[in-house]
Amino acid sequence: MTDSFVSLRSLRKNYGQVRVLDDVSLDIARNQFVSLLGHSGCGKTTTLRIVLGFLQADCGSVLIDGRDMTDVSPRHRGIGMVFQSYALWPHMTIYENVAFGLRVRKVAEPEVAARVGDVVARLHLGGLEQRLPRELSGGQQQRVALARALVIDPPLLLLDEPLSNLDRQLREDMRLELKHLQKRIAQTTIYVTHDQDEALSLSDRVVVMNRGRIEQQGTPQEIYYEPRTEFVARFIGKATFLDVAIEAVDPGGRARLRARDGTPIVVERLRQAAGHAPGDRALLAVRPEEAVLVPATEPGALRARVVEHLFLGSVYRYQLALADGSDVFIDSRGPIDGGADAGLRFAGGCLVPKAPA
Ligand SMILES: Nc1ncnc2c1ncn2[C@@H]1O[C@H](COP(=O)(O)OP(=O)(O)OP(=O)(O)O)[C@@H](O)[C@H]1O
Ligand SMILES: [Mg+2]
Repeated sequence: MTDSFVSLRSLRKNYGQVRVLDDVSLDIARNQFVSLLGHSGCGKTTTLRIVLGFLQADCGSVLIDGRDMTDVSPRHRGIGMVFQSYALWPHMTIYENVAFGLRVRKVAEPEVAARVGDVVARLHLGGLEQRLPRELSGGQQQRVALARALVIDPPLLLLDEPLSNLDRQLREDMRLELKHLQKRIAQTTIYVTHDQDEALSLSDRVVVMNRGRIEQQGTPQEIYYEPRTEFVARFIGKATFLDVAIEAVDPGGRARLRARDGTPIVVERLRQAAGHAPGDRALLAVRPEEAVLVPATEPGALRARVVEHLFLGSVYRYQLALADGSDVFIDSRGPIDGGADAGLRFAGGCLVPKAPA
C-alpha cells in the first residue's frame, strides 16, 4: 500500500498514430505540490485532462484517495481546475463566476458571499466583482479562474499554467501568494508550467516531461543539481556542458577529467559520478554559480577567453571559451577586469550520460 493521494498508473494516450503520453506513472502524496514541467506539446495538459476526467486514457488508470476514477464523472472527483484558457463564463459577472461552484454545491448565500469575498481579496480582484470577463485584462481573467477553483476548497487542485499571462511583477507576487496559500490550505496540487523558475520555487516535487514521457522526478534541488539525463540538465537552469573523459574520482568527490583536446579539468566536488569508470566519456554539467573565476596565472586553473558578458541585475553572466572552443558560463558578482584572459576553477559539477546522437 502506498499512502499517495493521487496515483497515475501507466497512462498512455494516442491521437491517431501519434503517441502523446507514454507510460506516465506518478504518485503524489497528500498535500504535496507537484509541478509538471516540459516543453510545449509534451503532454502536460493531456495529463491534467485525464486526471480531471475530461479525457479517457487508452491504457492505464487514475486513482484518487485510493479509488479508481475510471467510472467517476469529472464533477464527482473533488477537483478544482484552472484551465490554460481560463474558460470563464462570458455572460456571468466575476462574482457569479466565482460563486458558481459554491451554488451548485448548495452552499447558503451568506456563506457564498463570505467565501467569494475572501478569495476575491486574496487574489487582488476587489472592485471587479460586477464586471463581465470581457471587461477584464488577461491577467485579471486568469486570477478569476484561480479564484473560481480555490473557492470550493477542493481536495485536489489542478492548475494549468495559471500565471502565464501575468506581467513579471504580478507573476512574482502571485507566485508568493500561491505558496502562502498552499501552506495555509495544504491542498494536493498538480501545477503545470513550462517556466522552470516557477516549478523550482513552488514545488515539493518537480516532474520533468519530454515527448509524452516522464524524464525525471524529484525535489527541485535534485532536479537542479542531480539531473539524470542531458535533457533535464539542459532544460533546467543554465549550465556549461563539456565533453569529458574520466581519469579518477576520489572518495571525497574530487575528480580529475580531461577535455576533448586532452586539457586536464579538476572538479572539486563531482556529483553523480557513480556508475562511471575511469576511461568513460560523459558530459560534465556545471552550473554558472559553480564555476569560479581566478587569475589566469593560478596553478591548475583552466585557461579561458572572455567572449561576452550580460548584466542580469544581481549578477553578471560571462561567456568564456576554452582552448578547444567549448563555451563556459559563469555568474560573477562584479565585472571581470584584466582583459580577455581568465582562469577558471570548477567548485562543483555533475556527470550526465551523453544523449544518444
Ligand atoms: N484533440 C487532439 N487531437 C490531436 N492531437 C492533440 C489533441 N490534443 C492535443 N494533441 C497533441 O498532443 C500533444 C500534447 O498536447 P498537450 O496539450 O498535452 O501539450 P502541453 O504539454 O500542454 O503543451 P503546452 O505547453 O503548449 O500547453 C501535442 O502534440 C498536441 O498537438
Ligand atoms: Mg498545455
